Amino acid sequence: MRTVSLAPSLLGANPLNLSGAIESLENNFDWLHLDIMDGHFVKNLSFGSSFAAALRKQYPDAYIDAHLMVDEHDIILPEFIAARPSSITLHAESEGHLIHASLSRIKNAGIKAGVALCPPTRVASLDENILDLVDLILVMSVTPGFGGQTFIPGSLRKVRELVSLRAVHNYKFKIEIDGGINENNIISAVLAGCDAIVTGSAVFKSGHPAAWLAKAKHDIEEAIKNFDKE
Ligand code: DX5
Ligand code: ZN
Repeated sequence: MRTVSLAPSLLGANPLNLSGAIESLENNFDWLHLDIMDGHFVKNLSFGSSFAAALRKQYPDAYIDAHLMVDEHDIILPEFIAARPSSITLHAESEGHLIHASLSRIKNAGIKAGVALCPPTRVASLDENILDLVDLILVMSVTPGFGGQTFIPGSLRKVRELVSLRAVHNYKFKIEIDGGINENNIISAVLAGCDAIVTGSAVFKSGHPAAWLAKAKHDIEEAIKNFDKE
């Protein structure tokens, strides 16, 4: 049976108590999603490389999923590689001519490399050399920059397109969805073929993040079982 990784996004947590927020997940997560924003590529600022490094130090065994919404990723990449997250995802729209080189740098450092697509960016814009190289494709289902936005349902078309493309060409990338996921749309994201699901506000504003994630995991397993039976 296929498995789906749940990736709570720290952007949705109380910034004054981030370690408390991580503890409140009670290990019911697969990945910790870390949004890096530079105020240029998106109209917001969030965490820097020193935060990523501190997170790694505190949680040496956690799968840390760094999502860089930044211009000039080639300049800041060395600091983020040194912070040793488990994966680093760059945006296809940011310095597109450098993306292959930057993704290769990430992979050569022994870190999984991902490419992210903003809502208006088409799957067809990804060159075969990128599709061959990446471990992860992140489909943004809101405009990047802020948590708590409304899910764009058409994003699931992009997920389905990636699932078929992967099957036809035997690519190895996982598919992640990010933005506006909650208890009402998480199962459609799973059934569309997502391998990893980011959830910010839905988890951290739920009042009981660990229970929210445990229920999501259970509902996902049931949905996959029922789907396989049909
Ligand atoms: C948005 C970020 C997301 C954000 C998701 O730019 O990439 O990871 O934290 O938050 P929700 O789940 O609240 O949309
Ligand atoms: Zn993100």
